[in-house]
Amino acid sequence: MQRLTNKQIILGITGGIAAYKSAELTRLLKGAGADVRVVMTPSATEFITPLTLQALSGNPVHLHLLDAEAEAGMGHIELAKWADLVLIAPASANFMARLASGQGDDLLTTLCLATEAPICLAPAMNQAMWKDAGTQQNTEILKKRGIKLFGPGIGEQACGDTGPGRMLEPEEIANNTADQFETGSLTGKTVFITAGPTREPLDPVRYISNHSSGKMGYALAEAAVEAGAKVKLVSGPVNLPAPARMERVSVESAQEMLEASLQDLSLCDIFIAAAAVADYRPTAISEHKIKKGSEEIMELHLVKNPDIVATVASNSPKPFTVGFAAETKDVLEYARGKLEKKNLDLIIANDVSRSDIGFNSDENAVTVISATEAEELPQASKRQLANRLIEKIAFQYKAATSN
Ligand code: PMT
Repeated sequence: MQRLTNKQIILGITGGIAAYKSAELTRLLKGAGADVRVVMTPSATEFITPLTLQALSGNPVHLHLLDAEAEAGMGHIELAKWADLVLIAPASANFMARLASGQGDDLLTTLCLATEAPICLAPAMNQAMWKDAGTQQNTEILKKRGIKLFGPGIGEQACGDTGPGRMLEPEEIANNTADQFETGSLTGKTVFITAGPTREPLDPVRYISNHSSGKMGYALAEAAVEAGAKVKLVSGPVNLPAPARMERVSVESAQEMLEASLQDLSLCDIFIAAAAVADYRPTAISEHKIKKGSEEIMELHLVKNPDIVATVASNSPKPFTVGFAAETKDVLEYARGKLEKKNLDLIIANDVSRSDIGFNSDENAVTVISATEAEELPQASKRQLANRLIEKIAFQYKAATSN
């Protein structure tokens, strides 16, 4: 299970023979879904090359505190703020001593001083160095400051000694790291969400569209990320910034939204269709701007667009599929009809006749409908409502997949 999805982890590597294990640790953290940035002390580079860690982490490796180029990219303060957790593995006796005395004489110690994220250390050193009174005193100081220690393990050491001081195996460190985070209701799940309107072009300057702002879909995407999911947001044209920690695919037309939704659908556990997709598009797109003629009435010929959520729900195997129903009358009745016709697992009925909720407003009120029950969620901000909806969807998803 991808227990570290959306998590941003700084892996600090200090000088010691166990540094070679940091390559495997980087691979495991990435495999668990984390975004990993590696920071190395100068002596760590004597044991393993930054290039190896850059290739495995997929990010540039940070080496120096006073490097103008690196600071212009992601400086030590930005790195410190970026991290959800700072993991130092291996942590040498020297590094622990510097950290315990509050020094900030290189990038890694400075970053540890500047971060508000939890810090975890995986000590690695010779057994005599570990038992030394100085190291033991430093360990106590660090623990009192709330810094967590993973290990060290006991066993045979690179120098031939046997005793405490071995760095734990990468798998154990990766698991301990994941244990530091609370598990969300969608941890390890992949969620696709459509949001916003579509635009169906008539000519190079005109299109058919609607009033969807994307706020509801974006709020759902953020709530899903917070619940631990890996999110792909397929967005029509909206004036909202790309949310952090998710993939946003920008599209214009219904056809493009369909293609982006079907891409990698086999990876999708839950599909949520919050977009307001144009049901029809012009049969032809004029190459040039359509000129005003003498006739008073102009006829447009439209053809039906593919139904994205119904296409997704007809897939085999099908993700848990959730639609919205935007209606101006007989809201619940029409919503139930769409639930059945589109073969959905849940539908969220949205009364869009009101100006204080629905299209383009900051608030919404909906009814969540399944084949057997309906539950009203009262008016709230779209963000609050999204949190409640994600919890309900996660609950229903688990019930549906536990059989
Ligand atoms: O974007 P906001 O301003 O925040 O507004 C939010 C919202 C009102 C747009 C949203 O809450 C909402 O109700 N979205 C669904 C709008 C809609 O098009 O509903 P519908 O009843 O026409 O469609 C039913 C379902 O089929 C929807 O899940 C829709 O995404 C999907 N659909 C419709 C047509 C189509 N060709 N493909 C689809 O996937």
